[in-house]
Amino acid sequence: MTSQLDKDNLPEHIAIIMDGNGRWAKAKNRPRLFGHNAGMKTLKKIVRASSDAGIKIVTMYAFSTENWKRSQDEVDGLMNIAVEYFHKEVGELHENNVKINVIGNLERLSKKVRESAVKAMNTTAANTGLILNIALNYGGRDELIHAVKDLIGQGITAEEITEQHISDHLYTKGQPDPDLLIRTGGESRLSNFMLWQMAYTEFMFTDIFWPDFEVAVYYEMIHDYQKRNRRYGSAE
Ligand code: IPE
Ligand code: IPE
Ligand code: MG
Repeated sequence: MTSQLDKDNLPEHIAIIMDGNGRWAKAKNRPRLFGHNAGMKTLKKIVRASSDAGIKIVTMYAFSTENWKRSQDEVDGLMNIAVEYFHKEVGELHENNVKINVIGNLERLSKKVRESAVKAMNTTAANTGLILNIALNYGGRDELIHAVKDLIGQGITAEEITEQHISDHLYTKGQPDPDLLIRTGGESRLSNFMLWQMAYTEFMFTDIFWPDFEVAVYYEMIHDYQKRNRRYGSAE
């Protein structure tokens, strides 16, 4: 399937809003956490497919700064899934040369979640394959505030500040902006995801709920991306 893809025009960075787990479970009369567990399987599949296709960076939106509004049970369940992912998957990811990079405000996470995230990052820090950004307690506005605070702390003046300064103080510093955003689950909005980085990202939305998202559809979307004309404000 990757053979359809033009290797010279691959998106370098793909960002994914993994949405629709709850509705997928509801349609099956199952609890929301059943959907989140199913979603983790899709995550594994899509990470592997990204490596196979030669994508350099994938950013997965796992938990937003607004997702704390959910029931304690659901929040705890999601955090447990994150810990499980960091513990159980790190071995295979490491073998596949994947570098894990958790982005977001890690300070508000419990010690257990934070430590498992840091351990996964440390274990895979020297890997040179796919960079897997996991956005956990991530908010685009929160990230910008964090960047502004850093810059003020460094004593940068109003005259000196450039776009590069802001980019260099985001959680994604050093990485190219996403070329392609995919959101599953039928909603057409950003929900506070990578607001600065998505200035010229190509957007694709699908009604498919995240647990049902397939590698074939993923590759089809990358294929569609390759047909788009990115102008960045120029005339052609
Ligand atoms: C996405 O699925 C996962 C997270 C936001 C953590 P949802 O839980 O938002 O599922 P829906 O949108 O309610 O179906
Ligand atoms: C966005 O989904 C966050 C994640 C997928 C982690 P939400 O389900 O939280 O977004 P809204 O509430 O529908 O905008
Ligand atoms: Mg949702």
